[in-house]
Amino acid sequence: MTRAASGPRVGKRVGGALYFHRSALDLLDAETNRKVSSASERSDVPWNVAKVEGEAVSLLRYEDFDDHAFPCLLESVRIDGERVVRSDYSNRENPPVLHRKELLLRPDDDRIPVFAALTAAAEGHGLFAASHRIGTKQAWTRRVTEAGLTVEGHALVSLPPPSLEIARHRTAIARNRLSAPMQSLVRHEFVSPGTTVLDYGCGQGDDVRALVEGGVEAFGWDPHFLPDGTLAQADAVNLGFVLNVIEEPVERLETLRRAWSYCRRVLAVAVMISGHRPTAGLRPYRDGFVTSRGTFQRYFTPDELKEMVREALGVEGFAVGLGVVFAFRDPADERAFLYRRQVRRAERVVSYRPPPRERAIQPREPLAERMRPTLDALWATLMAVGRVPSFDELPTDVGHALRKSNVSISRAIGWCEGIFDRDEFERAAAARKEDLVLYFALGAFTQSVALSDLAARLQRDARAFFGGVGKAKEAAMAFLFSLRASDHIRFASKQAIGAGIAHEDGRGGIHFRREKKDDLPLALRGVVGCASVLYGDLDDVEVVRIDMEKMAVSLLYITDFEAKLPLIVRDVRINLRNQAISDKIFDEDGRRVFLARSAYATDERERVQREAIETRVRRLLALQGTAQTVRHANIVRALKDAAGKQLERSS
Ligand SMILES: C[S@@+](CC[C@H](N)C(=O)[O-])C[C@H]1O[C@@H](n2cnc3c(N)ncnc32)[C@H](O)[C@@H]1O
Repeated sequence: MTRAASGPRVGKRVGGALYFHRSALDLLDAETNRKVSSASERSDVPWNVAKVEGEAVSLLRYEDFDDHAFPCLLESVRIDGERVVRSDYSNRENPPVLHRKELLLRPDDDRIPVFAALTAAAEGHGLFAASHRIGTKQAWTRRVTEAGLTVEGHALVSLPPPSLEIARHRTAIARNRLSAPMQSLVRHEFVSPGTTVLDYGCGQGDDVRALVEGGVEAFGWDPHFLPDGTLAQADAVNLGFVLNVIEEPVERLETLRRAWSYCRRVLAVAVMISGHRPTAGLRPYRDGFVTSRGTFQRYFTPDELKEMVREALGVEGFAVGLGVVFAFRDPADERAFLYRRQVRRAERVVSYRPPPRERAIQPREPLAERMRPTLDALWATLMAVGRVPSFDELPTDVGHALRKSNVSISRAIGWCEGIFDRDEFERAAAARKEDLVLYFALGAFTQSVALSDLAARLQRDARAFFGGVGKAKEAAMAFLFSLRASDHIRFASKQAIGAGIAHEDGRGGIHFRREKKDDLPLALRGVVGCASVLYGDLDDVEVVRIDMEKMAVSLLYITDFEAKLPLIVRDVRINLRNQAISDKIFDEDGRRVFLARSAYATDERERVQREAIETRVRRLLALQGTAQTVRHANIVRALKDAAGKQLERSS
């Protein structure tokens, strides 16, 4: 064996980095050997693989190199000059995984034939195709399972034909609050007293009980718990977390169709989503896993869920939350749902009745004075619809009062104009027009039902604001087209920053509170709307980030926004260019601190305090001023190190 004179002959090159096993260290050139040995002396990580990239050396501890065919990374330390960064992967659900172990060994290593045979077998099954997607444990395990294989020792073995007894009913849990799909149905006003609800696959029936308690006509059926339950047509049908416990793909589609057959208006379908539960230790089975309790779980991606609905029912499923979609029987309901989702602002105004106030100009006509409560209510309606309403759009009591006094709507509006602020009405009209552009634009985006199905109110809106549905559609398409110009979005971002709604993130993007999304300029509402079409409701999101460069929207879930160091527990990233969604739920160790909280301070004192905290964290970890987040565990570690040094100095 010759020592390499000009660079190493062993090891695996990935990009600019060289990976090799510890046993091959003495074969490397003197310089590399020196760098790794010196790094090794400065660290107590019992490493088995090293990575050298320029001056930086990472010492990696993988699971037992001999025992594990594809070992997972447990721990690493990266040493780059004075900078030492240590990472612990041992408790992570989805750590990096190592392939092609033979390439890391010295050429005369006698483990090479076994390792190389495994690699050849994996290649033969096509497991290394699109290799950038298999670098982590979960993706790799999925790839192997989907190929109908399992790893035994250093061999890939075909999974035995499945013949397990699956105990589906054991998946049903007792609930002390409504399940997520039922909550969505309530939130979107498909379930309320007066509506009927069938819970198909109701499990222990707690959702049904809670709804009946609240005055809703709800009933349920379950093949195990309630086989004699009511199976009847209902306005809303819930198929909550049933499909994911069924191990037969064909039966899933049949179950979907059966649930749909009882649905008059809306079907809510909820499934478990991949990446949210640890699957380590579960036995791969068919396209899912069998748990130790003998139950089956299939984890779906959001796209797979939508695709399943499309395949079974021939209609589109609209995401309302992660793993929850709605399918509509009646296109008018679908329209109304999409509409409500985009025009919350207008809906909020409907329920708001401005209190009587002092006015500059009093109505001169005694009849108008007598009808003042009616005019207040009429004005509220005008503000909600942003145009002259037709008679059937008036609240019943307003219509009744006008009829009784023989006053036309236009006369009553004339009086209103003498009482209220006309500018306020103009602003409501402009906002309403924007809502409508957005609604039509996002309707086009979801390839929803034909525009001729538009509810009467929408048709009126389109006529009043655009001169007809065709023109409204044209305006919407022009708007969607304009979103492709990043200048347009940048300009809107500047406007939002200027209005104090959004904040610069120092990296060319902006962030803002989710509750402010309806106050953003139209272009940004469009961007957020597109993300919401792809992902679902943003209800529990705290902060939204828009990355103009990448055309991506990030949704940050933060547990306690008032905390000194608010923690991001989940980060969903929606790439609008390729429609990819990544959903990271952080475990205790991975949680990140939101370092831009000072931007949301309500007064100067709070801002100064928060900035001081953020600056301290940045200094402690030598972060750039533009860093928006940092792992909480890193702060804790750095504080401990600093305290240790302090102690050393004082002793
Ligand atoms: C995880 S539980 C969900 C129960 C309930 N929907 C909830 O969210 O609490 C799954 C339920 O699906 C039922 N189930 C299994 N196969 C089914 C099928 N083909 N049709 C309807 N329900 C089924 C099981 O009996 C079990 O109660």
